[in-house]
Amino acid sequence: MSLLTHLTDLTGRVFAELGLEPAHGVVVRSQRPDLAQFQCNGAMTAARETGRPAAELAEAVAGRLREHPEIVSATTAGPGFVNIDVADDALGLWSERSRADPHLGFDAATTPMTVVVDYAGPNVAKAMHVGHLRATIIGDSLARQFAFAGHKVIRDPHFGDWGFQMGLLIAALAEERPDLPFLRPDLETYPAESPVTLEDLQRIYPEASERARSDEEFAQRAREVTVVLQQGDHPGYRALWRHMKRVSEGSQRADFAALGVNFDLWYGESDVHDRIDSMVERLKTQGVAVESEGALVVDVGLPDDKREWPPLILESRTGGYLYSTTDLATIDMRVSELGAELILYVVDRRQSDHFTQVFRAARKGGIAPPEVRLEHIEFGTMNGPDGKPFKTRAGGVVSLGDVIRLITGAARSRLDEAHLAEEYPDPERQSIATQVGIAALKFGDLINNRSSDYVFDLDRFSSFEGKTGPYLQYAAVRIKSILRLAAERQIPAGAIAAPMLEVERDLMLALLGFGEALQRSLDLRAPNHLADYAFGVAGEFNRFYDECHILSEEDPTRRGSWMALAVWTLGTLERALQLLGIEVPERM
Ligand code: ARG
Repeated sequence: MSLLTHLTDLTGRVFAELGLEPAHGVVVRSQRPDLAQFQCNGAMTAARETGRPAAELAEAVAGRLREHPEIVSATTAGPGFVNIDVADDALGLWSERSRADPHLGFDAATTPMTVVVDYAGPNVAKAMHVGHLRATIIGDSLARQFAFAGHKVIRDPHFGDWGFQMGLLIAALAEERPDLPFLRPDLETYPAESPVTLEDLQRIYPEASERARSDEEFAQRAREVTVVLQQGDHPGYRALWRHMKRVSEGSQRADFAALGVNFDLWYGESDVHDRIDSMVERLKTQGVAVESEGALVVDVGLPDDKREWPPLILESRTGGYLYSTTDLATIDMRVSELGAELILYVVDRRQSDHFTQVFRAARKGGIAPPEVRLEHIEFGTMNGPDGKPFKTRAGGVVSLGDVIRLITGAARSRLDEAHLAEEYPDPERQSIATQVGIAALKFGDLINNRSSDYVFDLDRFSSFEGKTGPYLQYAAVRIKSILRLAAERQIPAGAIAAPMLEVERDLMLALLGFGEALQRSLDLRAPNHLADYAFGVAGEFNRFYDECHILSEEDPTRRGSWMALAVWTLGTLERALQLLGIEVPERM
């Protein structure tokens, strides 16, 4: 249990004793740390409910709280706030308890859920680009947090491997290399060697996609090829498709590995193909799927809509299944086979209409029963310095591999500038530079509220100063080196004692806030709260360490307590960073 939960329980009981609703006894960290450590604002709500003056209720609550030995001061302020300070003894005891807790005072979920996190979502034939970067970074962090909170997490990238882009690729290849054996439906076997490289795919796809915009005949051919591929009676197309998929996934897996991101399932749109026919039949029988202008659609409008919602297209006029169709069938699979209770779609904001349509159709067709939660975790754009979506100088799409190379290069120069890791063996320096680069990239993203756009700023992200990943890594590494020195001098950690100095008190309060910060990050699906929290902890530790010279302190009890605070700070920082997907080097 966290100190905050404990204070909330305590205050809730006081509300109950006064005949008020205990749920109003919520205690939060004070918005004015100069005035108090904690505050409760519930007297105002209770006043509205009972018609009694808020100031009077606040005074009654404060009076009862003051009787409690753990509370050193409870006063009222403003229209009915209660300001609370915890006694130093209690702070010491709570600190001692929290630091030993594997969850660091976080209240793990009492009813674990099965949570599917759908993120990253790269497409066959397209190298992962910066658009997929945010999805990957935010999705990975949320997956880590839900797992830490005790939920069963299933991470699935939902590869884009079954839609129109496959038809486009095959149609374009057929034109360019008409004698490819894969174009014939009637061979016994097909070459085991891929006829295309990643570079081929990355050239062909944008060309084909551009051409389909103006060349209707070509577009129609691509749609027909998509249908033939999906229906499965052309083994050549299927063999070619498998090659293209393997070639792209190879490069995507390398990008994920570089980012330290992993998945439990490596499913794509195509993996639900076998469920589509029966799902479509069901929707037809229910009258949910209807014919419209030759296509099969689901109306998703609702009576209270303020805008027109175009229907979701299940089957195109040509007979092909679309992005929405595979998404619906994927919900079906996740609910019925994986037992999903919450599905988080960490996908660009620009797809919000798509998800509204899919979710509405899933409810309407009973594919997602009411108790299953479907959420689009949308996010803004990562922009270049010009404020427009990040592009290469030539205006092209920047691949994820390029971004990683850029940021690692920047990290290396920063290390050199700061004379860090200078005398280490080269492989170690390289691996530190990579860890610092990835931290710069991830933290630079996660520190922003996910719904805002932000500017990719190589210099700022990779700096060892300010709200950056490298700053936090350095803070953690510095504590590691203090602890190494302490070990050499055989200085042990002891029990955390009641704080005597303001900097001790502040550090304890910051560390005791871990559970609250993580809970907010989870509730709002917004890792920036955790990122901000980690930054705050690093700052409190610096202030503490400026005043409390752990290694030279002579009083063994104080020294032991300070050592324990340092160990706890390191554990908290490392945990917060791990939940953000950031590694901490051993030394720097
Ligand atoms: N492949 C898609 C894209 O690149 C993202 C997939 C998101 N997930 C989903 N279930 N639709 O835009």
